[in-house]
Amino acid sequence: MTPTLQNALEQTASKVESVLANALKEDAQANEITRPQRLTDAMQYAALAGGKRLRPLLMVEVAKLFGREDDGVLTAAAALECIHCYSLVHDDLPAMDDDDLRRGKPTTHKAFDEATAILAGDALLTFAFDLIAREDVHQSAALRLQLSQELARASGIGGMAGGQMLDLQSEHSDRSEAQIRTLQAMKTGALIRYACRAGAMLAQASNEDIARLTRFGEIVGLAFQLADDLLDVTSDAATLGKAAGKDEERGKATLVGLMGQEHAREELAQLIDEAAILLAPFGNDARTLIEIADFIAKRTH
Ligand code: IPE
Ligand code: IPE
Ligand code: MG
Ligand code: MG
Ligand code: MG
Repeated sequence: MTPTLQNALEQTASKVESVLANALKEDAQANEITRPQRLTDAMQYAALAGGKRLRPLLMVEVAKLFGREDDGVLTAAAALECIHCYSLVHDDLPAMDDDDLRRGKPTTHKAFDEATAILAGDALLTFAFDLIAREDVHQSAALRLQLSQELARASGIGGMAGGQMLDLQSEHSDRSEAQIRTLQAMKTGALIRYACRAGAMLAQASNEDIARLTRFGEIVGLAFQLADDLLDVTSDAATLGKAAGKDEERGKATLVGLMGQEHAREELAQLIDEAAILLAPFGNDARTLIEIADFIAKRTH
């Protein structure tokens, strides 16, 4: 990782974590009744330690590319990170991937209990919409509404949750390459696509630029899951902070399983080239984004 990227990653991670930490430790807000301590403890446990914060970083860097750098972007990035963290809490539940380790610590249902983990996931999901609706996200209420609806669609039936359904239904079943690409574009791709698309929308980029960054997000999303699936085969729990070898154990349908590691690596290299070509019109201004795409493909955890 280049020093510029390392710096951007650390800065954004710490800023987004402090937005999340502050928002989660607030007392009950207007139109809330009370916030049970056990629930906020579990939400903080799930959201605050150890994530790479790559989705917030993408959103922040895309908004910056189009000239927006204020704290409202961090509020939107924190909303997206809430959805991501909730998706991990539920993904790890015994009824889903049944994992005990996440970000180097016991999973939320291990540290608390299953019911609390389910509720912490529910509350992180809904809290995301509290955050994305906040005024500092954008002065235009119409834009905030659009960002909220798109966040719902990226997260829900036709996005992440739908992709998780397809992922579970595909366990121990033959799936075509096209079917696996669809499930991955949904379970992982949709939130990463949103990170990039929303970053451009937050900065009121032109429609053409929003479309370009949306495509960039789709490419990075695919690269992200390919790298995740490769690491599941090639790495270990100590490095990943989560169990390795799980996809084979649970009979998951992955492109690595279907096409092999070598093919996956070739595709990753192609995707990174494609991402760089897409952002070439922005010249040096897009350097960090291209570095992020490269890091996502080559990461070791
Ligand atoms: C892991 O996501 C789950 C997938 C979508 C493959 P990350 O690798 O971004 O997880 P954290 O947030 O850094 O722990
Ligand atoms: C999870 O994919 C995608 C989510 C929506 C959370 P995985 O099941 O491969 O993620 P890991 O490997 O457990 O992080
Ligand atoms: Mg899973
Ligand atoms: Mg999993
Ligand atoms: Mg995985």
